[in-house]
Amino acid sequence: MESRPFVPMEYVIRLARTPWERAGYHALRREVFCAEQGIFAGHDRDTIDETAIPIIAACCMAGMPDRVVGAVRIHEPEPGLWRGSRLAVHAEHRKLGRIGAELIRMAVCTAHSLGAVRFLAQVQEQNVLFFRRLHWTSLGAITLHGRPHHDMQADLVRYPAHGREQTWLLRPQPRGREAA
Ligand SMILES: CC(C)(COP(=O)(O)OP(=O)(O)OC[C@H]1O[C@@H](n2cnc3c(N)ncnc32)[C@H](O)[C@@H]1OP(=O)(O)O)[C@@H](O)C(=O)NCCC(=O)NCCS
Repeated sequence: MESRPFVPMEYVIRLARTPWERAGYHALRREVFCAEQGIFAGHDRDTIDETAIPIIAACCMAGMPDRVVGAVRIHEPEPGLWRGSRLAVHAEHRKLGRIGAELIRMAVCTAHSLGAVRFLAQVQEQNVLFFRRLHWTSLGAITLHGRPHHDMQADLVRYPAHGREQTWLLRPQPRGREAA
């Protein structure tokens, strides 16, 4: 059985609203894309951050959002075309509560409500199957940051529009513990 010392009972997923949420969002991106994956040195910020909408997953302690453990951003490079990028879940919280899948859902549904007619992402090769299962199709293989990726498109029918004030609560099912 996989060993996890502590499994938070609740996560919230929503657009980052407060300074601590934005700070946690950038810290997590640095941790995953600089320290863990080594794609960027020092920081991973770019000009897209000037207009992108940041989305977070935060784990809750005593019912209150306590720490940012998931991130993604969306932006509109041309009218009607939206893109998602910098999807990251903290290593200790992966494959636990569908945090990554729900961040994608929040990203695409939010963009849909803001007028997206197409939603694209450049997906690292090891995550193509993950996105396919979430109703994305590959538009072809590309190389980005020297690594294999796929250009992928979300099926917007599967991602109904919702407003920017949405907050989703996730409660992971402790499957590993039940088997113990
Ligand atoms: C990719 C990533 C965001 C996935 O987040 P996650 O929270 O672990 O994913 P979820 O828990 O929502 O996964 C949902 C389902 O997809 C599966 N899954 C997760 N990652 C997968 C992958 N790379 N390939 C295939 N299936 C995957 C999970 O096992 C789970 O299956 P289940 O519903 O049968 O239990 C996370 O692994 C991550 O941050 N990786 C490092 C950074 C990165 O690669 N970012 C994406 C760049 S494109």
